[in-house]
Amino acid sequence: MTLPLYERAEACGKVILVGEHAVVHGQPALAAGLPGGLTLTASPRPGAPISLQIPAWDIDLQLTADNEHPVARACLEVLGYCDGPVTGWTILGDTGLPCQAGCGSSAALSVALARLALGPDAPQDEIVEASLAGERVFHDNPSGIDNLVAASGGLVKFIRGAPPESIHFKGSVPLVVIPSGIPRSTGAQVRKVREFLTELPSVVRPLLGVIGNATLAAIEAIESRNLKSLAAIFNLSHELLSALGVSTPALDRLRDSVLELGARGVKLTGAGGGGCLLALPPDDPRPLIAALAERGHAPFAVTLRGS
Ligand code: MEV
Repeated sequence: MTLPLYERAEACGKVILVGEHAVVHGQPALAAGLPGGLTLTASPRPGAPISLQIPAWDIDLQLTADNEHPVARACLEVLGYCDGPVTGWTILGDTGLPCQAGCGSSAALSVALARLALGPDAPQDEIVEASLAGERVFHDNPSGIDNLVAASGGLVKFIRGAPPESIHFKGSVPLVVIPSGIPRSTGAQVRKVREFLTELPSVVRPLLGVIGNATLAAIEAIESRNLKSLAAIFNLSHELLSALGVSTPALDRLRDSVLELGARGVKLTGAGGGGCLLALPPDDPRPLIAALAERGHAPFAVTLRGS
């Protein structure tokens, strides 16, 4: 018998404003959902294995037990957690998110798939738990921030094991995401920080605490519309992440040129090692975006809207 899937489900992408890596070790982090991240549509394919196609990410996979592809394994974990189907569907994904770039592509996939299996009325906690079964395939110790924000959207303060907090503010904050085009593995970067912490706990633990403090200061800066402080926090956060070993010379060079082109503050976002930079642009972000595009980059604007 073919078990059912719902017809359509969506999930957000995400950007981490401050607190990546430190959040794995219990510190607060601040992340925003990117609306319209990924839409999955399911159509019946009786008697055949489940096929997953996401053309924008070059994904065309059969979700069979012998498929070792991490995306296939993650999807099967999510469907298994949800007591979902093992055959009989084609799932088609539509997305504008870059994949494996620190914008929450894997969490968006796991969350949208959990929603496809559990339906639009399933509680958010259940969706997040189901999606984490998939996220653990990509790295063994996810804090859960990517999955939470993929499910909830909005601007969220997240502490591992505590209820997430929506951040309300007035006005809007313009941001620019700049994919570096350098592929990386979240798991490898998270392992690197864990090993550094094990090797030098008395030095690395306080560094993680300072990143946590930077998150709290960023929330205050957004709430009081102090973009000058927010820019300083972005710049400092990049240096702190670099001290943890998750930046690279190529990312640092790209960051320098984004600053030279007029950004107020720039940091890596997500796991680092490649992936994306996040910039706080001048009031009008268009000249920065145009200058980056002229240099061959593919920046995109994200606006945090207050509520
Ligand atoms: C990855 O988007 C964010 C990290 O903090 C890992 C995690 O929180 O699970 C690097």
